[in-house]
Amino acid sequence: MSLEFAQRMKAVQPSAIIKVAGKARDLKAAGKDVVSLSIGVPGFLPPAHVYAAAHAAVDADSGDYLPGRGSNELVKAFCAMLARRGFDYAETEVCAQVGGKGALFNLLLALVEAGDEVVIPAPYWASYPEMVKIVGGTPVCPQGTAEQNYKITPAQLEAALTVQTKVVMFNNPSNPTGMLYNAAEVEALAAVLAKHPDVWVFSDDIYDRLVFNDADAPGGFAAQLLDFQPGLKSRMAIVQSVSKTYGMPGWRVGMVAAPKALIDALLTLTSQSFTNLPAVTMAAAVAAMQGEQGFLDDQKVRLLKQRDLTLAALAAMALPCPTPEGAFYAFPQIGHLFGKSTPAGKVVKDDVAFCELLLEEALVAVVPGGAFGDGGAIRISYAGKESALAEGLRRMAEWVAGLR
Ligand SMILES: Cc1ncc(COP(=O)(O)O)c(C=O)c1O
Repeated sequence: MSLEFAQRMKAVQPSAIIKVAGKARDLKAAGKDVVSLSIGVPGFLPPAHVYAAAHAAVDADSGDYLPGRGSNELVKAFCAMLARRGFDYAETEVCAQVGGKGALFNLLLALVEAGDEVVIPAPYWASYPEMVKIVGGTPVCPQGTAEQNYKITPAQLEAALTVQTKVVMFNNPSNPTGMLYNAAEVEALAAVLAKHPDVWVFSDDIYDRLVFNDADAPGGFAAQLLDFQPGLKSRMAIVQSVSKTYGMPGWRVGMVAAPKALIDALLTLTSQSFTNLPAVTMAAAVAAMQGEQGFLDDQKVRLLKQRDLTLAALAAMALPCPTPEGAFYAFPQIGHLFGKSTPAGKVVKDDVAFCELLLEEALVAVVPGGAFGDGGAIRISYAGKESALAEGLRRMAEWVAGLR
């Protein structure tokens, strides 16, 4: 025996997003006036009734362990939310997890092993391939280029599927690009998946209500694969979360809807790992899902305004950026700046150097695109306070203008 760490740790990278956010926090703690446009926090707090429900849960606390599936109220609230979306799931076909992130991790743990391929359209959320590697699988990442608005085509999906493919992960709208597959595009991808009955499909729907154009979101939701291929339900896991929709990322409530056997597998993992979510966070999530939903419209108006502010600033910096149609990220291209130097003589050799130097010299935190599968880009999270966003973009413009 040795004190060496497990082999799996050699394959996995720490979250680039959390790394940048940590560096920005350190600089702030050292008294620097950093503007953080890095982490994907939605930039608003949940409505007052959510906090009231959390306080009530503290007052009524039993101190006991709780059901791993989630409280009865949470399970019912999630099923009702799915029903509002038009998806019929029984209580035995859903369960709670520690955020959407915990849900995706445990789903992969339940399904993927060495030799299995997991198809992840790039650009992707940075954690997808790392999670796949942790469980021993191999990420296969068809590339949606900037020219194709960061979206993959049905032919690319088809070409990525092999006999080794165990799972396809699909996220709409997308983190990091903010791009939205519209109904016709989702329908075409669903038709490809329908032809591959031995493949699981994860639909990461955590941004599905953050769509700017109402015509693209009938009933308020982005198009979903099940809308066109209901037969996929027997091999699909829907991942949801209160993090982005309700402004509750720190509360760590995620949920999964899937065939009962897969939910039972997740419950087995839950019973041997985190056991249950805290009563307070579950009560808050229930209040969020059941309460008045109108505040989301106000948030979308705010996010749209900030998206436009961001796009205008990027255009003035001559950084090409497809127009995001949902979520709250922009993914501009910066590759043409590689090789240039800052006034201090430091070379922007790649996306990581771009982000490090921007943070050091202009005190603005953004995330290197390589973490999301496109090293020619950076990710800007534009959901924070408008004044901070405007200041961050102003500093970035000044810094970019100084590159020679
Ligand atoms: C695409 C995507 N999926 C899942 C998650 C996980 O969110 P949470 O664990 O907060 O629910 C995130 C968070 O940024 C995300 O962007």
